[in-house]
Amino acid sequence: MKTSTLRHLVLFTLLAVVAIVGLAAAQSATVPMAGDVVAARQRLMRLNAASAADAQAKLKAGNIEAIAVNAEVIAINAGHIPFLFPKGSDTQASYAKPEVWEKQAEFEAAAKNMETWAEKLRDTAKSKDAAATEAIMKEFGAKTCGTCHTPFRRPKN
Ligand code: HEC
Repeated sequence: MKTSTLRHLVLFTLLAVVAIVGLAAAQSATVPMAGDVVAARQRLMRLNAASAADAQAKLKAGNIEAIAVNAEVIAINAGHIPFLFPKGSDTQASYAKPEVWEKQAEFEAAAKNMETWAEKLRDTAKSKDAAATEAIMKEFGAKTCGTCHTPFRRPKN
């Protein structure tokens, strides 16, 4: 074998190894371990609660337009919910009910429902329509968080 051919062969093998290792790293990054995903979704949920509380305070202060950013955070969170409940992630740290995986279509519909409500809230807040914003805010918790928590989440005592 000529030296240049051998050199090419070694280089090609090295590149293949680099590609395979890179692929494995990318895959482990997109498929987090169950423990991590439970922490990630609980964190997202706490951000939902903080965003709703902030929106409530702004409503009270008459700062209508500023509610739009809170609503947008909740809308984006809603879009992430289906990806944060992969099968097999019902670990001990989780308060999700088995229904999340038994009735996956309903669970995803509940997330979509919150996204729709949050986008509506964002748009009325942006338009500074205080009455319409207040009307949505009044129902928001029960119609979005509540309709999902009742069937899909165990209380923490
Ligand atoms: C599509 C379903 C769904 C929607 C919509 C939803 N949640 Fe949740 N939420 C859950 C589930 C399921 C859990 C339990 C997750 C776990 O422990 O694995 C949870 C947990 C929580 C927790 C506890 C987090 C922790 O630290 O353990 C809070 C707080 C929370 N949600 C707030 C909210 C608020 C506020 C809203 C509405 C603005 C909301 N959620 C909307 C399904 C939902």
